[in-house]
Amino acid sequence: MQSRMMSLIWAGCVSILIGWVLTQDQPHWPTAETSLPCNWTCMLLTLQWPGSFCLGIDNKNICRIPQNIDYWTIHGLWPLHARNCCRCWPIFHSHLQELEPEISQLWPSLIKSRSYFAFWKDEWFKHGTCAACVENMGSAPHYFRTALKLRMLFEFDSLLAIAGIKPSCNVSYKYDEVHDALGPLLGDNYVLQCITDVKEREAWVQLKIFVSKNVTLGCKKEEMMQTFKSSNTTTGHPCPKNATIFYFPINYEHPKEPCS
Ligand SMILES: *[C@@H]1O[C@H](CO)[C@@H](O)[C@H](O)[C@H]1NC(C)=O
Ligand SMILES: *[C@@H]1O[C@H](CO)[C@@H](O)[C@H](O)[C@H]1NC(C)=O
Ligand SMILES: *[C@@H]1O[C@H](CO)[C@@H](O)[C@H](O)[C@H]1NC(C)=O
Ligand SMILES: *[C@@H]1O[C@H](CO)[C@@H](O)[C@H](O)[C@H]1NC(C)=O
Ligand SMILES: *[C@@H]1O[C@H](CO)[C@@H](O)[C@H](O)[C@H]1NC(C)=O
Repeated sequence: MQSRMMSLIWAGCVSILIGWVLTQDQPHWPTAETSLPCNWTCMLLTLQWPGSFCLGIDNKNICRIPQNIDYWTIHGLWPLHARNCCRCWPIFHSHLQELEPEISQLWPSLIKSRSYFAFWKDEWFKHGTCAACVENMGSAPHYFRTALKLRMLFEFDSLLAIAGIKPSCNVSYKYDEVHDALGPLLGDNYVLQCITDVKEREAWVQLKIFVSKNVTLGCKKEEMMQTFKSSNTTTGHPCPKNATIFYFPINYEHPKEPCS
């Protein structure tokens, strides 16, 4: 698994970096929209663990996990306190053609009825159009490429494996073990998101990484504290520091019952 991920990442990096250079010249924030708010300062790169994804959604019959996915995938790149900035800026599938090999691997839809492109389109309207006031994200292809670059930069799957934190139904991990494994790469600039399953187990479902507006790791302390406090939603909460955390394996046949 790791070697496949690594070669994907390597191939992805090369093509993305080449694309990055070639397309750097033309971010095109529509001139009529210059009054859209660009006063956000911090983003969340939200990654999801397919093994527990289904536990976090209401209708548990609608998930699917493609067989080739056995790593953390992207949920989105979200400027904080800014949403749905503009319906005026359409996105077409052809915009993402060049990125398609990487984006399909790293940013799949895990909902049966929702096509990959439908997922990307929603993310673009909800979050991308707010991010797009920044040069590196100044168009749909720029926005998605930046998210892919960040995902590859934060390649923590292998750090977990090295630390012995492997998906399992019968072994759980202390919060500090996970924290120690992620520390060298991410410092304290993240939130572990858990969901409580029917057996009252805390299942690790998301990793939210703080990224500043200038696309570097970390945000202002206050912004991170505030987000941490407001991360208690129906689809998850910050993993409790005093509980043990389950990292469920992916169950492709029964994604809604990874460890029942
Ligand atoms: C940005 O400005 C808008 C409108 O003035 C305001 O509603 C919003 O809260 C501001 N966002 C941030 C992150 O300051
Ligand atoms: C944990 O479960 C696996 C199968 O998922 C099994 O092979 C292993 O023996 C179990 N370990 C313990 C300590 O029960
Ligand atoms: C990016 O922004 C953060 C927070 O505003 C700042 O601390 C950091 O120095 C900036 N980095 C670069 C490379 O500009
Ligand atoms: C999170 O919200 C639930 C109800 O929505 C509540 O029962 C729980 O105590 C909250 N947890 C924290 C840490 O605030
Ligand atoms: C963890 O701490 C919270 C309060 O901070 C408490 O409500 C909860 O019962 C504790 N859980 C465990 C497993 O000790």
